Amino acid sequence: MTKFYELTTAQRLSQLRSQGVLDEGDMAVLADCAALPGDIASNMVENHIGAFPVPLGLAEHFLIDGERYLVPMAVEEPSVIAAAGNAAQRVAASGGFHTSVERRGIVAQVVFANVPESLDLQGFVDEHDVRLRQVAHDAHPSLETHGGGLRSISTHRGDGFAEIDLLIDPGDAMGANVVNTIAEAVAGYCKRELPELDLLMAILSNKADVQRARSEARIDVDNLATGNMDGRLVAERVVEAARFAEVSPLRAATHNKGIMNGINAVVLATGNDTRNVNAAAYADLDESRRTWTRWSLDEAAGQLVGSIDIPLPLGSVGGAMSVLPAAKVVLKILRHPSAERLMAIVASVGLASNLSAMRALVTKGIQAGHMNLQFKSLAISAGARPDELDAVVAALRADPAHASLRAAKDVLSDIRPD
Ligand code: MEV
Repeated sequence: MTKFYELTTAQRLSQLRSQGVLDEGDMAVLADCAALPGDIASNMVENHIGAFPVPLGLAEHFLIDGERYLVPMAVEEPSVIAAAGNAAQRVAASGGFHTSVERRGIVAQVVFANVPESLDLQGFVDEHDVRLRQVAHDAHPSLETHGGGLRSISTHRGDGFAEIDLLIDPGDAMGANVVNTIAEAVAGYCKRELPELDLLMAILSNKADVQRARSEARIDVDNLATGNMDGRLVAERVVEAARFAEVSPLRAATHNKGIMNGINAVVLATGNDTRNVNAAAYADLDESRRTWTRWSLDEAAGQLVGSIDIPLPLGSVGGAMSVLPAAKVVLKILRHPSAERLMAIVASVGLASNLSAMRALVTKGIQAGHMNLQFKSLAISAGARPDELDAVVAALRADPAHASLRAAKDVLSDIRPD
């Protein structure tokens, strides 16, 4: 019998249909879509049956290092895009975000297990430096023409392991494939030259200490006021909220989730690897530093000052971003940024998301803003047409304690003529 992975997408769907796993409605949901046609998607993953679109929206008002951006964000959670744009507007009013980026490369580890005490791995690396660099070059010769290449080689040992660490500059690419290819080529060379050693693995590290983006924002306190809270008090409370995240692991997790709301949405929209970015970002934190952002009050200037410093291993060419049609459109909207520029934009979105969440939390609470979008989702799930949305949302808002899918359906049947 033909194996599932050997079938075409159409054959897989028809098999699932005949097995009763999918019905006609499901088949329609999975039908080809322009944002990700089957002939592209089926070559990206195994056992392909369709695409999984999430909403793509634009966060407005981002002024970053003097340049204005419309920032595409792909996210299923209501209010993430509006929140980022709202904070960006307040920041833009006081001069916008100011960024700096460090992008020195990705580390790959060539790891040996059960190493004898007598092993002089650094001596081996020193002696074979030219050959090791040649092997790295030959594994991916075009990398140097794109401005990248092997930058340094170091060794470490401990706990019975020894490793050769390769710092590889991937140019503007995210670089996972190229770095792993080089690491495996170097590992192969080591295995030939050191056959007595137990080569355990060769793989890049997602700890991206030297791919960092920093962004700073200043907001005039007057620009933080709400209907019933003075801007200076809001600023003071934001600083307290940020300080609380530093001392409370429970709060830090949520504070950081709010930052990643914005970051992941841009990372996903650009076709970058969200798991890589999350692994790198969280690997940067520990008990002495629970979050990536800092907030303080500049009394003399009358401004709230925020900054973010976060590892962001991003690329702006190659990989999924040069294959996914929607990612290509997104990069066009961002005016084809370099990887460094993209890192600066993403860090600024993270900082904006953090400000927006804290400002809401320390003033009227998060649900006030969330609920409207939540009501809209309920109305859509209940089957409301665009011209019916406002009426359903208004009815749900009038009795928020009883807002539910059932309630939305009841409102719909009330407002629809027989
Ligand atoms: C919700 O997705 C994110 C927030 O909880 C973040 C925060 O609390 O800082 C609002």
